[in-house]
Amino acid sequence: MEEIDSSYVIDIHGMDLYYGNIPVLTDINFKLRKSEFVYLVGFTGSGKSTFLKCLYGAQPLKRGKAWVTGVDLSRLKPSKLHLYRRKIGMVFQDFKLLPDLTAAQNLNFVLKATRYPKSERQAKINEVMQWVGLEHKHKAYPLMLSGGEQQRLSVARAILNDPDLIIADEPTGNLDPYMTDEIMYLFSRLNKERGTAVLLATHDYRILDKFPSRIVKLEEGELREESQ
Ligand SMILES: Nc1ncnc2c1ncn2[C@@H]1O[C@H](COP(=O)(O)OP(=O)(O)OP(=O)(O)O)[C@@H](O)[C@H]1O
Ligand SMILES: [Mg+2]
Repeated sequence: MEEIDSSYVIDIHGMDLYYGNIPVLTDINFKLRKSEFVYLVGFTGSGKSTFLKCLYGAQPLKRGKAWVTGVDLSRLKPSKLHLYRRKIGMVFQDFKLLPDLTAAQNLNFVLKATRYPKSERQAKINEVMQWVGLEHKHKAYPLMLSGGEQQRLSVARAILNDPDLIIADEPTGNLDPYMTDEIMYLFSRLNKERGTAVLLATHDYRILDKFPSRIVKLEEGELREESQ
């Protein structure tokens, strides 16, 4: 048995990621501490989404080791993927909300799928809706919400299972600067108040200035430390 260092939510050694025979990322080494907030930057096509896909179990490792929330991704069986995904929260640029369900039903859908105790579901929905400031929007359908509200709802969905890690792929990519700040405050509070580690891919250098934190950059297939 190899030792797992439990002070890290992500611990990656010598990882390669390929699409078919084509390498996208090579020899990646990266650690993310518990309760740390890290930005992932890099030009379009540099592999940010591919890297994040691997972290949520949607992209196999070609080589190397990756432990995420203590789980060895190189040994993760497809049949255990749903259990693993309960330990992490995911937020995407295009929200990925279910359009035919209300805000509360979107959350309940996840609670059901993750077998959250039925008697506690409503209280959990109330808690996360309140936390993201959507307590008056339980019955709204996603398309009745503004872009910023839809993204707040997807943050609420991501924290339903109290994850140790949030992975966000350009979560403000579809939002104007005002809504971007709103969502960034939410991620920042999530990190500071709830102690959730955050790995957030972005193109938007304005938010790096306004909400400074550690930055890592993907370039020419490698991961480089930009600043602390
Ligand atoms: N499903 C796929 N099959 C084959 N190649 C892919 C696939 N998805 C992405 N790629 C390639 O892998 C490389 C990395 O893509 P990726 O989407 O990870 O970049 P990115 O940094 O997220 O870019 P963006 O900033 O535009 O979102 C690119 O060269 C892309 O063309
Ligand atoms: Mg991308």
